[in-house]
Amino acid sequence: MSCCDTTPSQPHDLSRRINADDKRLINCKSVDVNQLCPIKYQWAWEHYVNGCANHWMPTEVPMQRDIEQWRSNAFTDDERRVVMRNLGFFSTGESLVGNNIVLAIFRHVTNPEARQYLLRQAFEEAIHTHTFQYVCESLGLDQRQVFNMYHEVDSIAGKDDFVMSLTADVMDDGFRTDSPENIRRFLKNLIGFYVIMEGIFFYSGFVMILSFHRRNQLTGIGEQFQYILRDESIHMNFGIDLINGIKSENPGVWTEGFQQEVLELIDKAVGYEVRYAEDCLPRGVLGLNAESFDDYVKYIADRRLERIGLPRQYNTRNPFPWMSETIDLAKEKNFFETRVTEYQSSGALQW
Ligand SMILES: [Fe+2]
Ligand SMILES: [Fe+2]
Repeated sequence: MSCCDTTPSQPHDLSRRINADDKRLINCKSVDVNQLCPIKYQWAWEHYVNGCANHWMPTEVPMQRDIEQWRSNAFTDDERRVVMRNLGFFSTGESLVGNNIVLAIFRHVTNPEARQYLLRQAFEEAIHTHTFQYVCESLGLDQRQVFNMYHEVDSIAGKDDFVMSLTADVMDDGFRTDSPENIRRFLKNLIGFYVIMEGIFFYSGFVMILSFHRRNQLTGIGEQFQYILRDESIHMNFGIDLINGIKSENPGVWTEGFQQEVLELIDKAVGYEVRYAEDCLPRGVLGLNAESFDDYVKYIADRRLERIGLPRQYNTRNPFPWMSETIDLAKEKNFFETRVTEYQSSGALQW
C-alpha cells in the first residue's frame, strides 16, 4: 500500500460508529468521549457557541478613569471597603470554580458536547481571574492583600469553605459516579458550584460593583463585571441544564430526602451570602444596605430553586429591579460596544 493509498488494509467495523441516542451525561459506557458529533445535547453545544460569541479580555477595557477616581478623594472608607471586599472574594472565587471544573467535574462528565462547554468555561474562569490581576495592577492595589482575603476575611472564608466542602468527595481519586449515593454526591457538587457559587454567591458582588457603575464611578471595573455577569449567567444555565439532565437520566437519585438536603444546603448558602453583604456594608453605602440584600439573596435563591425543580422558600421581592434589566440587556448581542462586538462579527471575515 502506498503512502497515499487511503484504502484501509482491514475492513472497519461499522457497528462501532456511534448513535447519538446512546450518549449519556455521566456513566456512558457505549460511546467514547472523543466523538463530539453527532450531537445529542443541543443545549450544551448552544451554550458553547454563545460563550465563544461573547469572548472578551479584561485588558481591552480602559482603566484610566478608574485609576484617577481611585487615587482621588472620590470614595469614602466604606465605599473602598465594598470595592476591596468584592475584589477579594472574586479574585480567588474564580479560581475555585475553574479548579473544580478541571479537577472534579470534567472526568466524571462522559459526554463530549458537555465537555466541549466545560473546556470553554474553564478558559472563561481564567479570564475572570486575569481580570482581578489586571484591576490590582491598574489601581496599584496590594495583590497579597486582595488574593489572601479568602483566608483573612471571615465572611469570604465562610462562603469559600462552604463550597469547597462540597468538592472534597468528588476530587478524591477513587470517586466514581457508580451508585445513586455517589450520583447524589456529584449533584451536590454541581449544585454547590453552579447554583450556589455562580448563581447566588456572585450576585451580591454584582449588585455592589454595578451600583458604582450606575453612578458613573469605576466604570472600567463595572464594564468588566458586566462581562463577567454575562459569562456567569451562561455558566449557571449550563450547570442547571446539566443538573436537570442528570436527574432525568437517573430518576432514582432525586428522592424526597435528597430534595430536602438540597433545600437545606441552599438555605445555609443564603445565610453565608447575607452575612457577606452585612460585612461588606456595615453602615450602608450607595443607597444599599444589608436588609435589602437579605431580600435580594432570598429572591435570587427562590429563582434558582425553581430552575432545579424545587419550590420557592422565601417569597421576597426584588429590591434591585435594575439588575434584571442589566442581565436582560447583557443577553442582547450589541449591548457591549467595545471589542466584543468585533469578536462576534469576526466569523464574517473573508479570507
Ligand atoms: Fe467566573
Ligand atoms: Fe463561572
